[in-house]
Amino acid sequence: MSEKLKDKIAIVTGSSVGIGKAIALTYAKEGAIVVTNSRKLERAEATANEVRAIGSQARAIEADLTKSTDIDYLIDTTIESFGRIDILVNNAGIAMISPTEDLSEKDWDRAIDLDLKATFLCSQKAAKRAMIPQKSGVIINLSSILAKVALPMRAAYCASKAGVMALTQVMGCEWAKYGIRVVAIGPGYILTELVQQSIDKGTFAAETLIDRTPMKRFGKLEEIANLAVFLASDDAGYINGEIIYVDGGMTATGGW
Ligand SMILES: NC(=O)c1ccc[n+]([C@@H]2O[C@H](COP(=O)([O-])OP(=O)(O)OC[C@H]3O[C@@H](n4cnc5c(N)ncnc54)[C@H](O)[C@@H]3O)[C@@H](O)[C@H]2O)c1
Repeated sequence: MSEKLKDKIAIVTGSSVGIGKAIALTYAKEGAIVVTNSRKLERAEATANEVRAIGSQARAIEADLTKSTDIDYLIDTTIESFGRIDILVNNAGIAMISPTEDLSEKDWDRAIDLDLKATFLCSQKAAKRAMIPQKSGVIINLSSILAKVALPMRAAYCASKAGVMALTQVMGCEWAKYGIRVVAIGPGYILTELVQQSIDKGTFAAETLIDRTPMKRFGKLEEIANLAVFLASDDAGYINGEIIYVDGGMTATGGW
């Protein structure tokens, strides 16, 4: 086991599957104590068990991040259990797929509530209750290439992820004085349930996504998780308020 995050207390939201799970397990391999989260306890517990199998400590917490009281529970239970929060990864996210003219107010709210508002609330509560008093911490937000390039039928998602980028910059500037760094990762296309859902719905063919990526392949989970380790570690000690794209060159093309 490498020791880049030894004994760091890390919350990874939405860590039952996909990128969140990959980050949770990679953090465990680097020695972190991981708080896993899902809307269903058994799903968070399944990832927590994999963390324990790696040889690290874990705590699974059920919380629906569209509910402010559940976010309180996630943050407060972590502090009660471990006394501090060193790393918060705001990973949980959803994409509503619809022509903008037909996007319902309910779906708009669902995307904004999870992708943007929960990122704000989790960060605010973790900072105020743990990171500011302890004068240290790293917040890593999952934004997207879609913060920068438009994708049809993703109005709420693109708006949320651009909002996450702006929030990252503001929080990074504002909380630097407390020793907190706030950074964002902007993945390109990583073949998780989120992207598979678009392919299954016929929104895009997998070949189209690959063809529009200069490197001509999907990104791998470990290519996101390894960056999340670096950003959380002291090796990234001077990176703050910044988004880093992991997209095989997609944003360099200017998008679609
Ligand atoms: N996969 C990609 O290509 C890609 C690209 C760019 C950005 N991202 C971002 O990366 C993050 C992870 O994406 P993914 O592809 O692993 O998605 P995913 O759909 O595989 O996983 C999303 C996770 O969020 C959880 N979640 C959903 N609603 C929740 C709620 N209300 N409360 C708590 N948890 C909830 C899900 O249970 C799941 O664990 C998201 O923020 C996504 O927008 C993904």
